[in-house]
Amino acid sequence: MSNSTDALTVTDNRTGTSYEIPITDDTIRATDLRQIKVQESDFGMMTYDPAFMNTASCRSAITFLDGDLGILRYRGYPIEQLAESSNFLEVGSLLLKGELPNQADYGAWVEDIKAHQFVHENLRQFFRGFRHDAHPMLMTMSAMAALGTLYQDFDIESPESQYEQIVRIIAKIPTLGAWAYRVSNGMPLVYPDNDRGYTENFLVMLNQSGSRPYEPDPRLVRALDVLFILHADHEQNCSTSAVRSVGSSQVDPYSAVTAGLAALYGPLHGGANEAVLKMLRRIGTADNIPAFIEGVKEGKERLMGFGHRVYKNFDPRATIIKKACDEVFEVTGVNPLLSIAVELEKIALEDEYFVKRKLYPNVDFYSGLIYEAMGLPAEMFTVLFAIGRTPGWVAQWHEMINDKEQKISRPRQIYVGPGERDYVDIASR
Ligand code: CMC
Repeated sequence: MSNSTDALTVTDNRTGTSYEIPITDDTIRATDLRQIKVQESDFGMMTYDPAFMNTASCRSAITFLDGDLGILRYRGYPIEQLAESSNFLEVGSLLLKGELPNQADYGAWVEDIKAHQFVHENLRQFFRGFRHDAHPMLMTMSAMAALGTLYQDFDIESPESQYEQIVRIIAKIPTLGAWAYRVSNGMPLVYPDNDRGYTENFLVMLNQSGSRPYEPDPRLVRALDVLFILHADHEQNCSTSAVRSVGSSQVDPYSAVTAGLAALYGPLHGGANEAVLKMLRRIGTADNIPAFIEGVKEGKERLMGFGHRVYKNFDPRATIIKKACDEVFEVTGVNPLLSIAVELEKIALEDEYFVKRKLYPNVDFYSGLIYEAMGLPAEMFTVLFAIGRTPGWVAQWHEMINDKEQKISRPRQIYVGPGERDYVDIASR
């Protein structure tokens, strides 16, 4: 990254005119190209970048990612150090506020979160309206939107009001996720236990049953906490861009986070962990791997949990998750699908198709195996990803709404449809 201000000289061969386009941080501003015109009445030059492959949509101080070197840092702290020594709520505070909290600030932050874990009783009724086979991610998404109906006094100009909604969203999403799970299983909806840690409370809300009190193994609590840390932010990924884009209309953060949940649900994004498990089950035994790989190479399907838009060497989160697998399996016993996953990874990493395209296991390749070993069904995996990603979404939303440069997101298009034509009456068509 360079901080020098320099310039690009562009010559438009249509007119022979040269333009000086300033460079800042190795980037030019797309709007600076608008001065490039053939005639004064033209709109001016645009850039075409359909999936934002090479377009920075914001300036952000939250997460740094270098895909070639496999680096991921939150506010400058390497993901490996945070996964080793921090915890999810501390990481949430770091993402939001920019610095690691001192003891007093951390205590106050945790108390704020705990104070908001309960959700309004009306939401219980709301959950009861879903059919038993509703996908837990869709229930969580709908419930997040419904949550917004309870806090319509949100004031976007007030820092206190912004903070209050952020705390509510981080605090309540495990309750919504756990309730979605319990509705799927026909279980009564339980209340959060404010005396327990954030991740521990979530595991208890999932598994608690009246007759059999549930005490989660601390090693499982720690493993899930680490998984949440690894998912907490990933700069301008699809769901975070959705949160920023929708939030740029100055809508309330519940609606913006609902947009993030919708984006995350897709199989190419957070839905990939569920898709990996289904893929491993379908492959069934190691003998079927070569035929499966051939199908992928022929373009019949994708090897889910492989490849990344930005990481082209390795995904540092996948390396940490692979280690966490061993710790979890010590408690739960080895997931029988692990051997298929390991063999699949080995074959794919040696295969010319994957090597040439720089396709490596991503965060979703092994996380599903851990979730399954914890006894969770595949439909819940993306909900777990969502709980982990929530501090990132709200931190990015907070940064965006307080960024004076931010305007409503509104891309341009290249119109390729018909020119003007006259309406023809239906009887004459
Ligand atoms: N299996 C087989 N081929 C693949 C895969 C895959 N998983 N991923 C990419 N390719 C091929 C693709 O067909 C293309 O080949 P060709 O150049 O011959 O057309 C080439 O690699 C480049 O792919 P792309 O689709 O242009 O890459 P992208 O940056 O647009 O997509 C991706 C990134 C993550 C959507 C993609 O790699 C993918 O679909 N992976 C599987 C789904 C998955 O695991 N998603 C989780 C991503 S990490 C967590 C998250 O963000 O939620």
